[in-house]
Amino acid sequence: MSFAGQVAVITGASSGIGWALARTLAAEGSKVGLIARRREQLADLAGQIEKSGGTAAFAVADVTERPQIVAAIHDLTVRLGPVDLLIANAGVGAPTTIEPFNVGEIEKMFRVNVLGVVYSLEAVLPQMLQRRRGHLAAISSLAAYKGLPGESAYTSSKAAVNVFMEGLRIQLRSKGIAVTTICPGFVQTPMTEVNEFKMPWLLTADEAARRIVRALKRRRKVYNFPWQMALIMKLMRWAPDWLLERVMHTYNENPPFPKTPL
Ligand SMILES: NC(=O)c1ccc[n+]([C@@H]2O[C@H](COP(=O)([O-])OP(=O)(O)OC[C@H]3O[C@@H](n4cnc5c(N)ncnc54)[C@H](OP(=O)(O)O)[C@@H]3O)[C@@H](O)[C@H]2O)c1
Repeated sequence: MSFAGQVAVITGASSGIGWALARTLAAEGSKVGLIARRREQLADLAGQIEKSGGTAAFAVADVTERPQIVAAIHDLTVRLGPVDLLIANAGVGAPTTIEPFNVGEIEKMFRVNVLGVVYSLEAVLPQMLQRRRGHLAAISSLAAYKGLPGESAYTSSKAAVNVFMEGLRIQLRSKGIAVTTICPGFVQTPMTEVNEFKMPWLLTADEAARRIVRALKRRRKVYNFPWQMALIMKLMRWAPDWLLERVMHTYNENPPFPKTPL
């Protein structure tokens, strides 16, 4: 199926995967609604899309603020029309440390990565149910498949997204609403630019967006990519703890924190 002429709303559109998804969908003829906290980046992206003949509108919102994100999506609906595709992409990541145990950052990851998805869905679900059509997607991660030392909070927040979307998918099965969970491996974005290690099978954001849109068109239930990294993450579930401890040892000595603190 095609997204031409359809309204697609993307959270976290001000950089990285969300930015590339917005451009890819706009190039396919979707009317794109852009959401994030940074106004300047959103305005710039909307301008670029409009300049190349597309249709874009943006609204500034923090996905962890329930009234804000609901109002932002309603505002985009008024300007663009009812949402056909929602991509809950906004996400943050930071290492989980034990000395000190960084509970503040752990809370932030759960608020953005899990509750941010829930609040974004809340804004579109009633109308989709009424219309008996629509597509809900969340950008999770291959990290969802294994609790990793030094990444306990990020990996568990993404596991929560996977399981939440799975339940929703089955519940919405007979309601005409498709649900897709996207689990990327490493993608070159501001989130990963702090990583000093060599990221295997690293994809550009444009390539990731191209693959994600293809999977959405096919209404995939879960899309894990690239396949090599997906296989490794799934095999890791059977790896003994001592092996993972050894593999992640160097990482945990000097974990890569985001440039802007969460
Ligand atoms: N890069 C990877 O290798 C990779 C791999 C697997 C999964 N992912 C997932 O892909 C998604 C996009 O990540 P990315 O790599 O593209 O990172 P990114 O470039 O850092 O983009 C993150 C986006 O989320 C937005 N965001 C963060 N907190 C927000 C909040 N409270 N409210 C609204 N928007 C917020 C940011 O916008 P503002 O700062 O302007 O609000 C930004 O647009 C995330 O869910 C991430 O977990 C990434």
